[in-house]
Amino acid sequence: MYLTLLLLVVISPITAITLPSSYDVVWDSPGLNHSADSMPVGGGDIGLNTWSENGTILFYMAKSGTFDENNALLKLGRVRLTFDPNPFSGPGLFEQRLSINDGHVTYTGKDNTTAKIWVDVFHPVVHLEIDSPQPVSVRLAYENWRFQDRQMVGEERNQGSWGLYSSKVPNGTTYADAVDFHEGAFS
Ligand SMILES: *[C@@H]1O[C@H](CO)[C@@H](O)[C@H](O)[C@H]1NC(C)=O
Ligand SMILES: *[C@@H]1O[C@H](CO)[C@@H](O)[C@H](O)[C@H]1NC(C)=O
Ligand SMILES: *[C@@H]1O[C@H](CO)[C@@H](O)[C@H](O)[C@H]1NC(C)=O
Ligand SMILES: *[C@@H]1O[C@H](CO)[C@@H](O)[C@H](O)[C@H]1NC(C)=O
Repeated sequence: MYLTLLLLVVISPITAITLPSSYDVVWDSPGLNHSADSMPVGGGDIGLNTWSENGTILFYMAKSGTFDENNALLKLGRVRLTFDPNPFSGPGLFEQRLSINDGHVTYTGKDNTTAKIWVDVFHPVVHLEIDSPQPVSVRLAYENWRFQDRQMVGEERNQGSWGLYSSKVPNGTTYADAVDFHEGAFS
């Protein structure tokens, strides 16, 4: 009995379940409500949420352990993809799909142009794969609101766990990030 239970425990996590593609989450138009209308995608200790707004594709990046001095778990910033010409605008030229079985989000537009976003489970790498039958230029921008020190006000003081809101300390400061770009970080 003990052996049977042990085997079940060992074997069950490696049984892959394939769900019907009808379980995918599929949207046929960009959301209306900014990042509140986003889809989650991740791998390892990295989590993204992606959406489309103003003709661009955006995602926030989160990672385990990215605490600041206030013990607030901050996101690492936002990436924006801009396409020229833009295959993902115009009536009937937009699909955003969360592929449950393969763990990626894919945008599909004109002439089946696709932008696939996924995260490597074994390495801390976010992959963006653009596939278009026509030449398309893609601009990638990194965006971050912590470009200067900023006083935390109101409910923001709840985001850490050090009791700033209960006034043990007058107010907290979210400090500016040091942002650096490394050769080869984008490939
Ligand atoms: C946008 O999100 C807010 C907050 O979650 C919600 O109250 C509102 O109903 C949403 N609006 C739309 C158009 O979905
Ligand atoms: C989209 O455009 C609106 C209006 O210009 C602007 O307020 C909003 O910040 C833009 N959203 C993004 C994600 O750039
Ligand atoms: C897009 O792909 C679908 C199926 O994958 C195919 O039926 C359709 O003909 C393709 N459309 C274009 C414009 O290539
Ligand atoms: C602390 O934040 C509150 C708003 O939450 C603000 O009214 C107050 O002026 C701030 N205090 C200091 C010392 O900045």
